[in-house]
Formats: sequence, C-alpha cells, structure tokens
Amino acid sequence: MGIYKIAVLPGDGIGPDVMNEALKILKTLSTIDSTFTYETTEFNWNTDHYVRHGMMMPEDGLEQLKAFDSILFGAVGDARVSEHIPIWELIMPIRKNFQQYINFRPIKLLKGLDNPLEKGEKIDFVIIRENAEGEYSAAGGRMYPGESRELAVQNTIMTREGISKVARFAFEFAREHQLKKVTNATKSNAIIHTMTLWDEVVEEVSDKFEDITYEKYYVDAIAAAFVERPEDFNLVLASNLFGDILSDLGSGIAGGLGMAPSANINPAGEFPSMFEPVHGSAPDIAGKGIANPIAQIWSLALMLQQFGRSDLHDLVLGGVEDVLLEKKTLSPDIGGDATTSQVGDAIVEKIHERSSKHET
Ligand code: NAI
Ligand code: MG
Repeated sequence: MGIYKIAVLPGDGIGPDVMNEALKILKTLSTIDSTFTYETTEFNWNTDHYVRHGMMMPEDGLEQLKAFDSILFGAVGDARVSEHIPIWELIMPIRKNFQQYINFRPIKLLKGLDNPLEKGEKIDFVIIRENAEGEYSAAGGRMYPGESRELAVQNTIMTREGISKVARFAFEFAREHQLKKVTNATKSNAIIHTMTLWDEVVEEVSDKFEDITYEKYYVDAIAAAFVERPEDFNLVLASNLFGDILSDLGSGIAGGLGMAPSANINPAGEFPSMFEPVHGSAPDIAGKGIANPIAQIWSLALMLQQFGRSDLHDLVLGGVEDVLLEKKTLSPDIGGDATTSQVGDAIVEKIHERSSKHET
C-alpha cells in the first residue's frame, strides 16, 4: 500500500492530550521505516463544534470520512452537552454506517505492570463484541413524560445475519491466532428472545470450527470468573452491551482504563475502521496533563496491525512494555508521577532504541 490516509478525531477532555502522543509515535515510525508513509487530517468534531454549530459533525461528515483508510479517535464527552449526544451523533453513526460490526478489545496485562489480582498467571485474552446492533439501538420511546404513568421502551435488535457475522469473525480469529477456546457470553436463561437467537446462531457457527473448543457461559458468572481465574479465557464473544461492560471489567484487571485499547472493525474493508481507547474524556483529570496515553497508543498499534504491519504493532507495544518495565516514566493512574507527554516521549525513545538494536 502507498500512503495511509488517516482521519484524526481527538475529541474532548483528555482526548487531544493522548492523541498528541499517539501522533508522536506515528511520526517516529515513519522516520524509522521509510516504507511506512502516512498522512493525517484532523477534524475538530467535538463538543465545541456542537456548541458552535448545533451538531457534532457536519452533515456530510460521514462522506468526508469515507475517503480515509482509517480513523484514529480520541474520546468525546463534555459537561456542556448531555452525554448521549456525542455518543449518538458521532460515535454510533460512524460505527453503524461504516458497518464496523466488530469491536475488538485485547485484555492483556503487559510486562512490567503489577497484576491487581496478585496472582502469578498471565492475563491475555481478547473480547470480541458485536458493535452494530443488539442492545444499543435507538428503537423505542418514552410516553407520558413526568406523569406517574410514564413509561419507556428500549428495544434490542438482533439479527441472524448480524450474529453470524460476528461469530464467524470470532472463530476465524481464534483459528488464525491459535486460541483454543471461544467463550460465548450470554444470558439466554433470562433474556429469552434475543439471547436465545444469539446462542443458536453462535452454536451453529461453532459447529463449523471443530478444532476450537466452544463454551456457553452466563455473563454474570463470567464477571466473577474474570476476577477469579482470568487465565482460563482465550476469546470472549459478547453482544454489544455485555461486551461493553465486560471490557471495562477486563481493563480493570489489566492496568485500568488508561491501558485499554479498542478497534471498531469493518472486516470487508468497504469502509474505514476506527481505533479508539476504551476510556472516555475523563473530565476529572482533563487539562491537568496527566492522562495515560498508552490506551490511545495501543489503539494506534491495532490500526497498524489492521494495515498489515504487525511488525510496527509489535515495535510499538514493545516500546510501551520497555517503559512499563523500567518503571521510571509512568502516569499517576499506574503508580507514577509522569505527565502525558513525558510518557509519550519515553515510548518514542524506547522505540528508537529497539529499532537501532535491530539494525546493528
Ligand atoms: P472515563 O473513561 O472518561 O473516566 C473514568 C475514570 O477513569 C476517571 O476517573 C478517569 O480519570 C479515569 N481515566 C480514563 N482514562 C484515563 C487515562 N487515559 N488516564 C488516566 N485515567 C483515566 O469515563 P466517565 O468518567 O464515565 O465518562 C466521562 C465522559 O466520557 C462522559 O461524557 C462519557 O459519556 C464519555 N465517554 C466517552 C467514550 C468515548 O468517547 N468512546 C467512552 C466512555 C465515556
Ligand atoms: Mg465502555
């Protein structure tokens, strides 16, 4: 591929801070490897944009984004507008219209970080979350606002096609990465319409992958098992809501939200995929310059992997692990006192060290 065209959406709060550091890493990679060339275009589609124009992005926003190979997203959310606006006017339209029906979230305790569960076992699995339908649908409504008979209906929409696409992606991913087991996070004992369809379709797909162990597990029990025996999981397949919750829990056992990356993938490549940290705009620490940029940098690494550059993904994660192992330049959320930009600079330095070792 020639020049990668990347749309950059820093967003609100700590979004721009952590994005700055990811862009430093991107620049470093292109100076180290002359075959890696890219161009970025920044879009200020955030709460300021909403306050000025009454919308999170221009009307042709999606049309503009279509021209890119990929989208690097920071985080949105700001007390000036209600929390659902940035999610439903920016993130959801991108995920749904660009058919990014896979949300990929590695749960991996990197070398150098303390295991919060105080166990020796390594924590290394992935969550694959359905990302385009399910519980996160706008179908429904409210009636009789403010009255004692007020009611709300929120519909979950699951389709055979949507479930089967995410399930096939999960099993194929497991096969490709030699993961032994796929765990289906379900709740079909209580949610008897959508979740039974989910289970049936996942099971049908699992039958075609005899080399991979399949297990069905209730989502509440998985929550406990993430804490009690996280080493048992290889790949957890979950619906939109369950995957959202489980991945924050997963981040809690793997260094916290400052360490949790994610990828919204359009597997067919008809539309750009989007890479973003799991965390939000963190208003409690915004403007202080102390956000951990690693979740954003790791999300960038996932983008590089999607470009087919696993070598650059590994180089970036290696640089991150070197900084964690050295324990000298860590942000406060993981026990240090370094600033966001000091952490980014330290990772840049380690990447240079690694690549010069490679050359000699
Ligand atoms: P949050 O993820 O922004 O923050 C939760 C806690 O984690 C806070 O204490 C925060 O300081 C900490 N934290 C998060 N990222 C961190 C980092 N990189 N380094 C160090 N500490 C970090 O979630 P919260 O507070 O529930 O939501 C804040 C805003 O973000 C809301 O407006 C919410 O709607 C929005 N949000 C946006 C998301 C997105 O853009 N994809 C995802 C989640 C929330
Ligand atoms: Mg979440």
